Amino acid sequence: HNKQLQQYNSFRTKAVARLFCEPQSADELSEILKAFPDENKLILGAGNNLFFTKDFDGLIIKPAMKEIYIVSEDENYVEIEAGAAIEWDNLVGETVSRGYSGLENLSLIPGSVGASPIQNIGAYGSEVKDTITLVKATDMISGEQLEFTNEECQFGYRDSIFKQKRRYIITSVVYRLNKTYIYKEKYVDLSRELKGNNTPSLSQVREAIIKIRTRKLPDVKTYPNAGSFFKNPILTKEEKEALQKRLVDAPIYNTGETSFKTSAAFLIEKAGYKGKNNGLVGTYENHALVIVNLGTDDGRDILNFANEITNEVEKQFGVRLEPEVWIY
Ligand code: EPU
Repeated sequence: HNKQLQQYNSFRTKAVARLFCEPQSADELSEILKAFPDENKLILGAGNNLFFTKDFDGLIIKPAMKEIYIVSEDENYVEIEAGAAIEWDNLVGETVSRGYSGLENLSLIPGSVGASPIQNIGAYGSEVKDTITLVKATDMISGEQLEFTNEECQFGYRDSIFKQKRRYIITSVVYRLNKTYIYKEKYVDLSRELKGNNTPSLSQVREAIIKIRTRKLPDVKTYPNAGSFFKNPILTKEEKEALQKRLVDAPIYNTGETSFKTSAAFLIEKAGYKGKNNGLVGTYENHALVIVNLGTDDGRDILNFANEITNEVEKQFGVRLEPEVWIY
């Protein structure tokens, strides 16, 4: 009852939840759901991608499943099922040290295993969707335990059915990893960090990514933050051309025949917001896409600053940024 949530969100904003629970298994979760059918509910992972702007009048469920085991294995592949509460980077570290490839580019992403499919976490040319074979989740309304195949997850850029319909509580995820590894260039920054080593081992790739991320992204202990605050905007051909008229050097990546992605960090920087702050909230000096908390415990300060950036970028470049972070 009346749980303080400041320690449960990486922006460290203050809010109180009327009810709070940490089910240890899918069965326990189903029981809780049956006991509180009419309660307003919110699912919390490691709290690295959300913050609170007000108290939560309802039940917060923080899945606590931590089991990990091998589901199946042959000469080439291994399938590992991991509980939702396992810390993401521990899973990555463990699989890399066993020589299983597939997750290495996703090293050091903050968060839990259960959160990984929700926004289809991605970095350095990899997305978690390419390794997921099954997601086990419980229907928040019926309490039924369900299984989603990769296709049923409807993965997209920072998107999935779990994000679209906030109705399923992920209890575990099955990843299919490769027992062999051949480095393929997917991201120039990474190859640069590997300094001409064209045949890096899995752990060398993991280490290079850890170095890049540590350099570019703020340490959450010093500067509470939630990683990229906004998604990289997806533009139509017309929107892309309109942007290029205003910002000739805007980075453009093809994401389909007629869709293009540009860099939110670039737009924010060009709008004059890199390293800018109002004392309480700012953007990180080494990466404009990350909003950092400089000394507030009120989520509304963060929201106001984010809105200021959104408005300024839209005014200057005609592109509307969408938050990647969940705001409650
Ligand atoms: N850039 C700037 N100014 C900056 C930083 C970057 O102009 O201050 C431009 C540069 O042109 C740079 C480009 O943005 O080359 C891309 O920067 P970066 O490689 O850091 O990638 P990003 O698009 O900003 C995305 C993910 C990150 C992920 C990196 C690396 C999203 C919303 N973010 O960021 O994910 O780590 O790629 O792959 O897609 C997260 O989701 O929390 C996150 C950190």
